[in-house]
Amino acid sequence: MQHPLIAAKASRFTDSVIRGMSIEARRHNAVNLAQGMPDFPAPQALKDAACRAIQGDVNQYAITWGAHDLREAVAEHAAWHLGLAVDPESEITVTCGSTEAMLVALLSIINPGDEVILTQPFYENYWPDCMIAGATPRFVPVRPPDWKFDLDELAAAFNDRTKAVVLCNPNNPTGAVFTRAELEAVAALCRKWDVIAITDEIYEHILFDGREHVAMAALDGMWERSVTVGGMSKTYSVTGWRVGTILAPPHLTKAFRQMHDFVSIGAAAPLQEAGAVAYRLPRDYYDALAAGYQARRDRFCKALWEVGFEFEAPQGAYYVMAGIGPFGVDDDVAFADKLVREIGVATVPGSSFFRDKSLGRSYVRFCFCKRDETLDEAARRLRKLRVLT
Ligand SMILES: Cc1ncc(COP(=O)(O)O)c(C=O)c1O
Repeated sequence: MQHPLIAAKASRFTDSVIRGMSIEARRHNAVNLAQGMPDFPAPQALKDAACRAIQGDVNQYAITWGAHDLREAVAEHAAWHLGLAVDPESEITVTCGSTEAMLVALLSIINPGDEVILTQPFYENYWPDCMIAGATPRFVPVRPPDWKFDLDELAAAFNDRTKAVVLCNPNNPTGAVFTRAELEAVAALCRKWDVIAITDEIYEHILFDGREHVAMAALDGMWERSVTVGGMSKTYSVTGWRVGTILAPPHLTKAFRQMHDFVSIGAAAPLQEAGAVAYRLPRDYYDALAAGYQARRDRFCKALWEVGFEFEAPQGAYYVMAGIGPFGVDDDVAFADKLVREIGVATVPGSSFFRDKSLGRSYVRFCFCKRDETLDEAARRLRKLRVLT
């Protein structure tokens, strides 16, 4: 009998549409507003620290769960920013990006039959993460214009098989920021059903209009059942450095560290040294980061509204889930294809954030983590849209 070459779980998901659109952007010389990566430099202090580390021969494996100084710096940052007293010796794991962090968390807690609740639309990776870990995803819709969940629908998703709920806050792709009250509601359900809350807080510093980031793990009674996933990519504009973090109580961290060791051994050692500098940047760095993104949001949203896209301004993160209905189209993939080929702007078709693709057909996602010149050039190209449709 012929054995199938490819594992069944590998054939349950496709290539990443987001990363695929980046490749299309290069091919068509389009402005890449698909993949969420800044086109402006990282802070000089980080670059200097990384160079110093390499010149100083920090070239060998760091401790598998993260260089000591970086874990200390992450703990200091968590204390002032998240209000969490995290022990760097037993409650922090450094991973290869938050991408590995999320996968390691799921691989470490999922048993056959376990369900994981995801809000839908969801960050593209969570579905393959569930498939790889062997979890059964259960979706709770969040709906425009504000992309919040209905509490009854959320409550109805919890049951005896629920192992974890994954919540991205601030949210990619919707730009929603969950309030303390909304997080409290999720937390109450987690406590009631003995469920772990895995929060992807990679955009923890990118919130607008005076909103404050609330960590799920800091809510009453939640530390013991919370897994906080984060990393350097978005806060320090270094998506290519691949340094992520998991904050979790010791009983979970022990399992995460073992899993992480066999998945990747560790994140790049010299970049972890630079990470220790990053997490200790003064607080005004973070204020400037949020203010800079708010200005970009305002600039780019205005341009998108003028062209005719439909959406409410995002509250956090750096994405716009834009309605394409006004252009008289209902096929996001064809529309995104036309945008990248004919208009010269790469986006992500909305359906890639939904399991039921039909729910995402009337959206494309733009990212705005770009220099003003880049956003203006994208806007200039997008203004041609009306003529073509
Ligand atoms: C919600 C979310 N989580 C995780 C990631 C990946 O982060 P990292 O670079 O830390 O792997 C992204 C990147 O776009 C993201 O939007």
